[in-house]
Amino acid sequence: MTAGFAGATSSTALPPLVPGLPVLGCALDMRINPLEFLTRMYQQYGPVFRVRILNRTHWVIAGSEGNRFMSSDGGEHLGSTHVYGEFGREFGADLLIAMDGPQHRQLRKVQRPGYSREAIVRHLPAIEHVARESIAGWRPGESRRLLPLIREVVFSQLGALIAGPAPCGLLGDMEVVFDTNLMVNVSKILPKVALRLPHYRRARMRVDAFIERVVNWHRHHPPLDREPDLVDRLLAAEDLEGQPYDEQSVKTSVLGFYVSGLHTLAASATFLIGAVLGVPGLQAQIAAEADQAFDEGELTLASLQGMTTLHKAALETMRRYTVSAFLPRSVITAFEFEGFRFEAGTQVLVAEGVTHLLPENFPNPLAFAPDRESWNGAAPPSDVYTPYSLGAHSCLGARVADVQLRAVAGVMFHELELAFKNPNTPLSVHIHPVSGPSRRLQVTAVRRRVH
Ligand code: HEM
Repeated sequence: MTAGFAGATSSTALPPLVPGLPVLGCALDMRINPLEFLTRMYQQYGPVFRVRILNRTHWVIAGSEGNRFMSSDGGEHLGSTHVYGEFGREFGADLLIAMDGPQHRQLRKVQRPGYSREAIVRHLPAIEHVARESIAGWRPGESRRLLPLIREVVFSQLGALIAGPAPCGLLGDMEVVFDTNLMVNVSKILPKVALRLPHYRRARMRVDAFIERVVNWHRHHPPLDREPDLVDRLLAAEDLEGQPYDEQSVKTSVLGFYVSGLHTLAASATFLIGAVLGVPGLQAQIAAEADQAFDEGELTLASLQGMTTLHKAALETMRRYTVSAFLPRSVITAFEFEGFRFEAGTQVLVAEGVTHLLPENFPNPLAFAPDRESWNGAAPPSDVYTPYSLGAHSCLGARVADVQLRAVAGVMFHELELAFKNPNTPLSVHIHPVSGPSRRLQVTAVRRRVH
C-alpha cells in the first residue's frame, strides 16, 4: 500500500545522510539540545533526511510538512508498536503509547475522561498543598537541585489525582523501572540483562505491589460518593470484543499514567522555573500575579487562568525547551513523502518540534521571550506549535499538564524568591535517557516571600 503526499514522486533515491563520526554517527549531536541540531539539518537538507545514531539509521521527517503529515491520515502509516511494544510488555501488557489501530483508539477513548481538565480541577487543593509542602522547609540561602525536587512534587501530585493509596517513597523505584526499561527496550543502550539485575527486580516488585494496591482499593471502594477516576473507568470499561480489560491491562494502564506524565511534566516545569529566572524582572512579575491569585483563596481554574504572564511563560517554555523533540516511529505500511519512499520497517524520527525553532515562525527563536507576539490572541497553528504532539498518540495528559505546570510554578514563585546558584547557568536539553534539563541545575532560595 502506498500513499502520496505533497511533492511526492515515485523516487527510489535515499534521503541525504547527515555526516557523522565513525561509530558514534550523530549520537553526540543528539545528546544535548537535539532539537537545535535537527533544526539545522532541516534548514540544510529539507523535510526528509537520515541520521545515524550508533549502529542505527533513522529517517527523519521534520518541519511543518512533517507535522501536517502526522496530523493527516499519513500518520497512520507510522506505528508505535515496534518502537514501544517490548517496553510495554515488560510491564505485563500493552501501554497506550505502544498500541496502534482500533485497539489503541478504544483504550484511548476509555482513558480520556480520566485525563480531563475536570478530573484535575477537582484536585487543585491537593495539587497546591503538595507543592507548598515540598518547599516548606526550604530555608533562605539554601540551594537545591531543581529537577529532582520538581520530580518529587509532580509525582506526588499525580498520585493525588488517583484515589486510594498514595505512592509515598516510590519515586526512586518508579524512575529505576521506567529508565531501565526505556534504555533496554526503546533506546537499546543497555543489554537485556539489566532487567534481571536485583536492583531493577526489587524496584519492579515494589512498584507492582503499589499498583496492585491501588487497583484493589478501587475494586473495594466503587465510586459511589466520589467522581470516578482513571482506575474506576478502566475497571468498568470493555475492549473491542465487549470484554472487560483483564487485570494486567488495567494495572499497566495505571502504571502508564505515571510513566507518561512524570518525566515530561517535571522536565517542562523545571525548564519553566529556570527560564523565568533567566529573564530580569520576570520572576517579580509572575510573583505579583501569583500573590493576587492566592489572595483570592484556594487555587481555582479561574485564578490559574488569571496568571497571564505565567501562562505565556509556560507556552514559551514548551516552545523553546520542547521536551519531546522527536518521536520514534516505525513504518507499518509503505508510503511516499516529499519524493522519498518509506518502506515498511523503516525506523523514523518525527522531529515535530523543529517548527518551534524556525525564525520564520518565531523570530530570534533561541531567545526565551514570553512577551513574543505569538502568545497574544489565538495560539499558533498546530503544524507550527505542537508541544503535545499531533495525531493518534497526541498527549492525553495535555490538560492535566497545563494545569499542573502553572500550579507548580505559581506556588514556587508565590512562596519563594529564587535565583540560580551559579549565575549565567545556561539551560539546555539533555537526553538522559528521556529529555530534560541538566540534573545539576541548582537554585537558591533568596528569601521566603512574606504574605
Ligand atoms: C508538559 C508536560 C507534557 C508534555 C510536553 C507531554 C508530551 C507528550 C507527547 C509529545 C506525547 C506523544 C508521544 C508520542 O507520540 O510518542 C505524549 C503522549 C502521552 N502523554 Fe503526555 N506530555 C506531558 C504531560 C503528560 C501528563 C502529565 C500525562 C498524564 C498525567 C501525560 C499522558 C500522556 C499519555 C497517556 C500519552 C500517550 C497517548 C497515546 O499514546 O495515545 N502526559 N505526551
